[in-house]
Amino acid sequence: MPVAATSTFDLLRTEIAGIEVEKIVSQFGTPCYVYDMQMIRRRVEDLSMFDTIRYAQKACSNIAILDRLRRLGVVVDAVSAGEVRRALAAGFDPHSNPPGIVYTADVFDREALDLVAERSLHVNCGSPDMIEQLGAVSPGASVTLRINPGFGHGHSQKTNTGGPQSKHGIWHMDIDRCLRLADMHNVAITGLHMHIGSGTDLEHLSQVCQSLERTAEQIGRTLTTISAGGGLPVPYREGQSYVDLEQYYALWDQTRKRLEQRFGHPLRLEIEPGRYLVAESGFLIAEIRAVKQMGENTFYLLDAGFNDLARPILYGAYHPISITHRGGVAPSERIDVVVGGPLCESGDIFTQEEGGFVAKRSLPPARVGDFLILEVAGAYGFVMASNYNGRYRPPELLIEDGTVHCIRRRETFEDLISGETIPPVAT
Ligand SMILES: Cc1ncc(COP(=O)(O)O)c(C=O)c1O
Repeated sequence: MPVAATSTFDLLRTEIAGIEVEKIVSQFGTPCYVYDMQMIRRRVEDLSMFDTIRYAQKACSNIAILDRLRRLGVVVDAVSAGEVRRALAAGFDPHSNPPGIVYTADVFDREALDLVAERSLHVNCGSPDMIEQLGAVSPGASVTLRINPGFGHGHSQKTNTGGPQSKHGIWHMDIDRCLRLADMHNVAITGLHMHIGSGTDLEHLSQVCQSLERTAEQIGRTLTTISAGGGLPVPYREGQSYVDLEQYYALWDQTRKRLEQRFGHPLRLEIEPGRYLVAESGFLIAEIRAVKQMGENTFYLLDAGFNDLARPILYGAYHPISITHRGGVAPSERIDVVVGGPLCESGDIFTQEEGGFVAKRSLPPARVGDFLILEVAGAYGFVMASNYNGRYRPPELLIEDGTVHCIRRRETFEDLISGETIPPVAT
């Protein structure tokens, strides 16, 4: 377990999970996402003290990743009908104990409500309205409530999911109303969940635990599960450390035990990580297609843009970068460069800070044809990819026990225009 360990990142890389970068590229081209299964396995093992690891598949929802996580005993959360169907396609059993799939959202769109009713899925309600809507189609259902405790935390304002400015969860003062709604609509509240944002630290966590305990006491003995939500951070920068998982678990376990004493029955303790399980497994390999000097700035321009990895433009997120020199030459000098993509957008810069300010990174000198790898890209990477500027979404590759599996092929022009039609012209 990486207890408070700090991380280091190399600026030069020749292989990923034991496979040469040049070999991967010669077979699958660039840009491409590569996931290292060994790293995912390690991260699952780190959390094995929790009764249930419920993977927030929004972080990386390829069905091959879901399949492998299911085989490791992990269950999933789904935020849309599409994610429910992904989980079903990957073999999760919605009626296992604990449920293999939980629908967690702040709203039901119509398709999701129909699917939840049809498959009798367990729901984690993020709005009081959901209790009413579910009760109307699935009387007798049991639900979890996702509570907004009145405060939040996040690595960026955009990933803070608690407090009065957040749209997420049921406001902590609304519990009585939820209890009345549940009674009226014949719904049982069996779970309680708090996710205040991505990038949790231990200080915020103890506040979350206290708040969850107060809410649990209000709901009472119908509860059988409490969920710590997601938000476990991973290091993206040199020298950043992991959360101390032993302390993290201890805080939740103490909360659980106090509630068990009060209720007189066991409570299941779930954790719902997305990023923690997959971020470090992922690499986005791109080719450097131009090296330009613009005044005092040197730019490496890649064949991957924010259509492939949106976190830098969305949050000013920092990703470690390494270079693979074609032919393996590895100069030891460093130069300060700006790294950008091919899109017709000045914001298409991977080395930017929140607010869009262009930053420089000290990297090895490189030439057109060398490869640049954006690392720690497995979470909120491919899943946010788009076809902006008519670009095809890249392939996803999974390296498992020394073999590279293509788990999603590169899109083609036919994929790009599929579903589009030109209407006849009125004559
Ligand atoms: C309800 C819920 N659970 C879990 C997660 C996963 O968060 P993370 O990837 O930071 O662990 C999210 C992320 O938005 C979420 O909204």
